[in-house]
Amino acid sequence: MSGQPGFPTVRQRRLRRTPALRRLVAETSLEARQLVLPVFVREGAREPVAITSMPGVVQHTRDSLRKAAAEAAELGLGGIMLFGVPEHKDARGTGAVDPAGILNVAITDCVAEVGDALPVMADLCLDEFTDHGHCGVLDASGAVDNDATLELYAEMALAQAAAGVDLVGPSGMMDGQVGVVRSALDGAGHAGVAILAYSAKYASAFYGPFREAVDSSLQGDRRTYQQDGGNVVEGVREALLDVGEGADLVMVKPALAYLDVLRAVREAVDVPVAAYNISGEYAMVEAAAARGWIDRDAAILEMLTSIRRAGADVVLTYWAAEVATRLRGSLRGGSW
Ligand code: PBG
Repeated sequence: MSGQPGFPTVRQRRLRRTPALRRLVAETSLEARQLVLPVFVREGAREPVAITSMPGVVQHTRDSLRKAAAEAAELGLGGIMLFGVPEHKDARGTGAVDPAGILNVAITDCVAEVGDALPVMADLCLDEFTDHGHCGVLDASGAVDNDATLELYAEMALAQAAAGVDLVGPSGMMDGQVGVVRSALDGAGHAGVAILAYSAKYASAFYGPFREAVDSSLQGDRRTYQQDGGNVVEGVREALLDVGEGADLVMVKPALAYLDVLRAVREAVDVPVAAYNISGEYAMVEAAAARGWIDRDAAILEMLTSIRRAGADVVLTYWAAEVATRLRGSLRGGSW
């Protein structure tokens, strides 16, 4: 499955599988194909639910999600990244590995809607599903148990692959997560499923609005697994480790406060690099714009262009669909 013993096959072809995946990783400006739309889908929702701290972003119903996926495909976006908001959370995040769990059914819904026209990606992490809000399971002392969590990540990857996902996005910052996910996928005949690794992910105050978006119940912080904001060498090391474990793309997150890390990672690895223009970055611009303190449309393009300039081949942004619409018919590309 993964080549001759001692000779693991490097799966470069994974990202060549469909025109949309090739478009996603093509190298070159601000284009629709470089933008990935993160979306939230809420179990049991009958109407989309507004997220107060992210004006314009909602928790989707399964139906409204399908429409968002279809629109994203029609716009030629680089992909859609799914986050599930389950009705019931528990200590082990059971909803994440349940084939009938909201994230897994949403993957199937989106793939049914868009087929190969739009890469469907899914967050591979337990925090949306655990009642304590941590990205992994806890040991007896209440600490996040790395290796017990890896077993659940492997299971979660298989559930997402079975649901039809194109890329999984392990985002929990557990050591060894990419390797464990890769071998679980390969071992189950899912060698074609790619990994977008959240490699250099920093403990950040800018995730605040996201916690509302996924109804997070986190008390405390994630500083025992997410990185310290001052460390750039460590961010590069994390990315290199993930590439070694089989990551097809690596990510730096957040984007704006970490543009130097993005550049350093871009220069260090030989796979495409993504950056996540996160919830707090979105909220800051929307809040200032709502008060008339900033030219919203120009600020958005300037931010996204800076992220590309710093080295991101792919940018996850809640503005993806809007910006793709604006870029349509525009000869100016990424300039504003
Ligand atoms: C973890 C995850 C988070 C985000 C994406 N994946 C939250 C966290 O690490 O605390 C944040 C995204 C954003 O703020 O827009 N599943």
